[in-house]
Amino acid sequence: MDGLADQIRRLKEERDAVILAHNYQVPEVQDVADIVGDSLNLSRQAAKVSQKVIVFCGVHFMAETAAIISPQKRVLIPDVEAGCSLSDSITAEELREWKAKHPGAVAVGYVNTTAEIKAELDYCCTSSNAVGVVRAIPANREILFLPDMFLGSYVSRMTGRKNMRIWAGECHVHAGISAQDIDKKIRSMKDAEFVIHPECSCTTPMLYDLASGRYDGRPVSVLSTEGMMRHVTESGSKNFVVATETGILYRMRRQNPQKTFVAASDRAECQYMKMITLEKVYRSLAEDRYHVTVKPDIAAKARRAIDRMLAIS
Ligand code: 13P
Ligand code: SF4
Repeated sequence: MDGLADQIRRLKEERDAVILAHNYQVPEVQDVADIVGDSLNLSRQAAKVSQKVIVFCGVHFMAETAAIISPQKRVLIPDVEAGCSLSDSITAEELREWKAKHPGAVAVGYVNTTAEIKAELDYCCTSSNAVGVVRAIPANREILFLPDMFLGSYVSRMTGRKNMRIWAGECHVHAGISAQDIDKKIRSMKDAEFVIHPECSCTTPMLYDLASGRYDGRPVSVLSTEGMMRHVTESGSKNFVVATETGILYRMRRQNPQKTFVAASDRAECQYMKMITLEKVYRSLAEDRYHVTVKPDIAAKARRAIDRMLAIS
């Protein structure tokens, strides 16, 4: 009897499916995936892959983004309950009210939002291109940035943009990675380099140092999950403190066996990402579930914001 991973690989061929997995997925799911990456990379891949079926191992907004970009493909998510606290921090109604209060402002929304929110946006962005997207907007235009306040403050600092209103949303996992967590590691890991996701609350007291690339004498880079993967591979440093969801450590260690990776906080686990198990990936392929769809009118509007982002990055 074949193991579950072999059965998944066989079913994948039979169903003409590709498995995309986010960097936070559990190791065994990353191992059966064809492509592992960050939100931006996975969105791009969803548009490029030739297979008819995409099994999206990540959270719901990511699968929805794939369905918007590739309406001719069948997008499946192994657990339809895999949500995101950040995406839940703003509703479409709240966004419409916010826009009505600031007519003429440009709405820029993080990819961690529902399709209904994306349909209300002028631009979408991810953690790897948010600075570039904001820079591409004429300086005299007011910006409504949503929903992550830590990413928003970071982007405002890096672009020097003052006319940016920032929604007070957060991801509970990254908000929980505090300045105290970083300070502890600065004391205990003497020669380590720091890589930090811009959704972390620890970025706030560091904001004025981040542009210089150093904090308390240590090299610090603020990066998306894929940016982190690239950086730790290219850097000459041997030891790294990683401030993001701990699932990424598996891929970092596997690809860089000669280097050491320590989580800034061991509590940084996203229970939504961890809802996707190998068993559920198997059932997703075997039972053709759960099909993620977006209403065509919402998808068409959301796609404009995503296409504008893809054109910039
Ligand atoms: P990335 O775009 O950096 O992969 O981040 C997505 C996410 O959900 C962060 O929590
Ligand atoms: Fe959402 Fe945070 Fe989980 Fe990322 S880590 S999927 S932002 S809840």
